[in-house]
Amino acid sequence: MTTVPGQSTPQPSLAGGPGQRVPQNDATNLRIDHLTAGYGRVQVVSDFTARVEQGEVVSLVGRNGAGKTTALAAVAGLRYAPAGGTVYIGDKNLSGASPNTMVTSGLGLVPEGRRIFKEMTVLENLRLGAYTHRRQRKLIEDDLDRVHELFPILAEFSKREVGGLSGGQQQMIAIGQALMGRPQFLLLDEPASGVAPVLVDEIYDRLHQLVEGGLGLILVDQSIERALEHSSRFYVMDSGTNVLFGDSSPAAIEDINPIVLGSEGVGAA
Ligand SMILES: Nc1ncnc2c1ncn2[C@@H]1O[C@H](COP(=O)(O)OP(=O)(O)O)[C@@H](O)[C@H]1O
Ligand SMILES: [Mg+2]
Repeated sequence: MTTVPGQSTPQPSLAGGPGQRVPQNDATNLRIDHLTAGYGRVQVVSDFTARVEQGEVVSLVGRNGAGKTTALAAVAGLRYAPAGGTVYIGDKNLSGASPNTMVTSGLGLVPEGRRIFKEMTVLENLRLGAYTHRRQRKLIEDDLDRVHELFPILAEFSKREVGGLSGGQQQMIAIGQALMGRPQFLLLDEPASGVAPVLVDEIYDRLHQLVEGGLGLILVDQSIERALEHSSRFYVMDSGTNVLFGDSSPAAIEDINPIVLGSEGVGAA
């Protein structure tokens, strides 16, 4: 169904680099079915289903408060209440798995608002991303080299405290930190938020480079245009459930806008 570019000739990226646990020709996918999640007794996500192949980008859009952040956090193993539904990577059942297990199974989350440590240096933050395999020094150094290759500014600013850097640079650190966990699949929650336009483009360019190397992405972006531009398929979530999905053609925005913008939307009833 979905072609996986770069499977046979992986780029020198984290997803396709040497020493990776999973062989590149071992194509697999991330499948989320009927996920439920919430906070305490409040169920926010009632039925979320999505899948993404390696080397594919799918976007998840929806109005503010629809449950996108809660859904991605639950997929990554962060639970604020009992969650239901299933999460698989390939044939591995990861339903209900801990955040650590999700990372070691190949899933990374770049959380909304980039939860990096502002008083620590760039390098310290990147190293934290390798916490699941912190004894494998050689591997970590190789991964650091690749993150630095991807975002050279992070090498230049290695010793700087993160709090003093721009929103875009902090986003690069958050992505780099997630990449240090060696993901096959990455969940990106609003990577463009608070980032200057020129750096948004650069960040997306780099993400596509990783996707060519085999990484699979689920992307949340406030801008529907940008979400469609950067993905091959889309999902729309409303009130914690899937309400629409399809291929990311520019025309899809006509169907998505009325749902996401609601009565505030241009031309919506
Ligand atoms: N920590 C929390 N405790 C209780 N309710 C929350 C919490 N975080 C978010 N919510 C609620 O969950 C709903 C979905 O939020 P969220 O997942 O952040 O949506 P989105 O990312 O689509 O904007 C909202 O109604 C929000 O108020
Ligand atoms: Mg959100």
